[in-house]
Amino acid sequence: MSKEQPLEKDWWKKSVVYQIYPQSFKDTTGSGKGDLNGIIEKLPYLADLGIDVIWLNPIYQSPLVDNGYDIADYYQINPDYGTMDDFKRLLEEAHRLGIKIIMDLVVNHTSDQHEWFKQSCQSRDNEYADFYIWKDPKEDGSAPTNWGSTFGGPAWEYVESRGQYYLHLFAKEQPDLNWENPNVRQAIYEMMKFWFELGIDGFRMDVISLISKRQDWPDAPEDAVYTKSYYVGASNGPRVHEFLHEMNREVLSKYNIMTVGETANTNSDQAILYTDPAREELNMVFHFDHMHLDYGPFGKFSDIRFKMSDLRDVLTEWQNKLENRGWNSLYWSNHDQPRAVTRFGNDTKYRVESAKMLGTLLHMMKGTPYVYQGEELGMRNVRFTSFDQYRDIETLGVKKEFEEKGLPESYIKESIFLKSRDNARTPMPWNGDEQSGFGFTTGTPWIDFSPDHAEINVESCLADQNSVFYHYKELIRLRKMFPVVVDGKYELINPTDSDVYGYTRTLGKQKLVVICSFAEYKVNYKLPAPLKNQSGKLLLSNYQDTKKELGDLELRPYEAVIYLIDES
Ligand code: NOJ
Repeated sequence: MSKEQPLEKDWWKKSVVYQIYPQSFKDTTGSGKGDLNGIIEKLPYLADLGIDVIWLNPIYQSPLVDNGYDIADYYQINPDYGTMDDFKRLLEEAHRLGIKIIMDLVVNHTSDQHEWFKQSCQSRDNEYADFYIWKDPKEDGSAPTNWGSTFGGPAWEYVESRGQYYLHLFAKEQPDLNWENPNVRQAIYEMMKFWFELGIDGFRMDVISLISKRQDWPDAPEDAVYTKSYYVGASNGPRVHEFLHEMNREVLSKYNIMTVGETANTNSDQAILYTDPAREELNMVFHFDHMHLDYGPFGKFSDIRFKMSDLRDVLTEWQNKLENRGWNSLYWSNHDQPRAVTRFGNDTKYRVESAKMLGTLLHMMKGTPYVYQGEELGMRNVRFTSFDQYRDIETLGVKKEFEEKGLPESYIKESIFLKSRDNARTPMPWNGDEQSGFGFTTGTPWIDFSPDHAEINVESCLADQNSVFYHYKELIRLRKMFPVVVDGKYELINPTDSDVYGYTRTLGKQKLVVICSFAEYKVNYKLPAPLKNQSGKLLLSNYQDTKKELGDLELRPYEAVIYLIDES
């Protein structure tokens, strides 16, 4: 569709993206895993929410060691999810409803089951010999560098048949592609064109900041967090911008599509290099600065809680930095992160209020918002009662690592509860009926349901006008109604308040005033001077009886309000 229909350039600036984790969205076969027909069935639900774009996590042929981020064939749909015809139908049906589809592009690595890798392992001189990153052992036989890999263990694996090590920044079943090899790049570009010709509307690019490796292969400092120690030679590497510019020239520029790069370990200055339109690389990136606010001594798996003032500093920095060059992507959660309401809100007494507050804060910022499936229901983290219920390769690796370190069991349990990726991967509850598999599956789900679905499910949200769902729907509608939501300039209004995060967005004669309380008690909020004497009308609140006119406020727990000052 992006090719045939005249589409506005930069349409993605006005869009809201909904992320679907196919395996956990809707099962139509009783296999216990979601599938493409399930997504087709639920398109009207998404159209009702008002989203513009669906981002699908990988659906390609894969042994699913890392749930699809290990691709064995870029041109085939994983039979667990359906067929190519199902995919074409999904594309067609979504487009008919005005919804675009972007796919996951996983090209830092493939599966070890990919034909390229199988061939590459055979010898040092076949067509695919240099498709991956092979290195001779050091003199003592050890690995070329001291790097650890994301899911635990060293980043190098020895292969007898070649007498060499290959690099894998993730699981050993996910060998890294060698982007230095122009044939690798061409093969990737061909594959991308295949999907664009089929009609997809863009790509989310997996760990794209890692594709270019330093060719001097430095060791990591001893004190680096082991599972991220490869950053020293792999993140934002020497040729990453050259490669992306080439990809843009050869593929992306030929289609009216959107791109978002996942860029681990990338600061806001580096983000400009990826997203400044003049540089012709990507449209936007996912940064991690706000995801790092509750990291501890062992990295992500910690029991620390974020501080609101840090969150405000980080988000404000990104808003300001990308104001004129580049574009922000806005997200609280995805398939790698815990549930937002547990992490940044209060998932018990104020679950609904804080989920709406978080949505308000994010959706009124400048950038393209992403909603992760279930976020619109206010889904929370899952308190599994047994460790056997966890499925994710990262979680299993962390448990082993922490046990080896001798960390207390209570710490291991709590940090996994707070940070496991499985929190985001439990099945979508379409209704509250356990007997019917909560409307997700008639079979046994591949991962257990969260135990709270009698209360939290789509059906009950749709039946309740005050649910998180309708608040998100309204936020999405406001973006369509008011250009200031898309283009307005962001300004922080109370930089030192310890409870309240407030900002304005200004475009011409219109100004939005967004005030969000992170407190669990009442806060007397005084409007700062320049806004004090202006009159504004309430556009949206997460409480029923918020004052209709702009002014000082007695904010209730997690209250979030949006006022519009219109001097036109
Ligand atoms: C980032 C993806 O989001 C994550 O799920 C995956 O494990 C890694 N990249 C490796 O592809």
